[in-house]
Amino acid sequence: DPLHHFLHGLPKCEHHVHLEGCLTPELIFELAAKNGVQLPDPGVNPAYASASTLLERYRRFTSLDDFLSFYFEGMAVLLTADDFAELAWAYFVKAHADGVHHAEVFFDPQVHIGRGIPYATVVEGFVAGCRRAETELGLTTRLILCFVRHLPLDSAAEVYEAALAHGHFEDRVVHGLGSSSTEVGPPKDLFRPLFGAAKERGIQITAHAGEEGDPSYIHTALEMGAQRIDHGIRLAEDVELMARVAREGVMLTVCPISNVQLRCVTAVSELPIRTFLDAGVPFSLNSDDPAYFGGYILDNYCAVQEAFNLSVAEWRLIAENSVRGSWIEEARKTELL
Ligand code: HPA
Ligand code: ZN
Repeated sequence: DPLHHFLHGLPKCEHHVHLEGCLTPELIFELAAKNGVQLPDPGVNPAYASASTLLERYRRFTSLDDFLSFYFEGMAVLLTADDFAELAWAYFVKAHADGVHHAEVFFDPQVHIGRGIPYATVVEGFVAGCRRAETELGLTTRLILCFVRHLPLDSAAEVYEAALAHGHFEDRVVHGLGSSSTEVGPPKDLFRPLFGAAKERGIQITAHAGEEGDPSYIHTALEMGAQRIDHGIRLAEDVELMARVAREGVMLTVCPISNVQLRCVTAVSELPIRTFLDAGVPFSLNSDDPAYFGGYILDNYCAVQEAFNLSVAEWRLIAENSVRGSWIEEARKTELL
């Protein structure tokens, strides 16, 4: 596409990428060997025969929960702060090569704590990766602590308290809170008490909603204080809510290739990109879990271009909205615009 070069050159911001979702099958096998971690028995799950069979299995996800089972198994190979730092660095190198200037990245401390890795080890490693990206690549970065919806509220409260005890919100080591994992099933407002407490402290909040779940999940996320919505593609089914989101300028962090890989839609062309542009809903385009879905941010931009053939002016608007929706100072926004 003649616009490929233009899309590469657009100053991109990424707001929806899970650092654990940057763990490639190669790195899973490498770290498993280094750390002496036993991967699932290939006799039980043949996908684990090799890095290439695992990658092949990733091309056949049937749903969010099918993907999540591999995503949570994969992260078991991460043990030391260096492992987390290496993983984050690998992502930032890819993002930089794709023309990302600013990246806000999710991580799932509850799951690591559940495997016996201290909260401080996880953060130490990811922060080291972020610092290196800032100094060596000139990227600005933000770490967003994600609560996971498949574990009990108590476990989320435990990491929230750990982050507070370390002073990580005041020190801006952690820039905000998110919520992810299984959407349909657990109570829609599971994290209401934590988001309520965080809001009082002025902590920024975003939430995965409207990926597999209907628009009422988005409504509940907004009611609990979310300032952004991650995915949010099903917003298009509720015209009234969509008008409110446009009016309030709530940004959606859309992940086109993820939505196809997890069978939320059958093709990128089915996504409500045109609907959101027409309704004035601000959105950014993102990779979500690039090692699992087979595409980094530029692949997502190109997939949208292929499906929608947007104009240069529309692309400029998408890029501008993604700068305006970033959790950065006005001076940095001006630099990026
Ligand atoms: N949805 C929900 N939870 C997640 C995802 C996702 O796309 N990726 C990693 N955790
Ligand atoms: Zn996600």
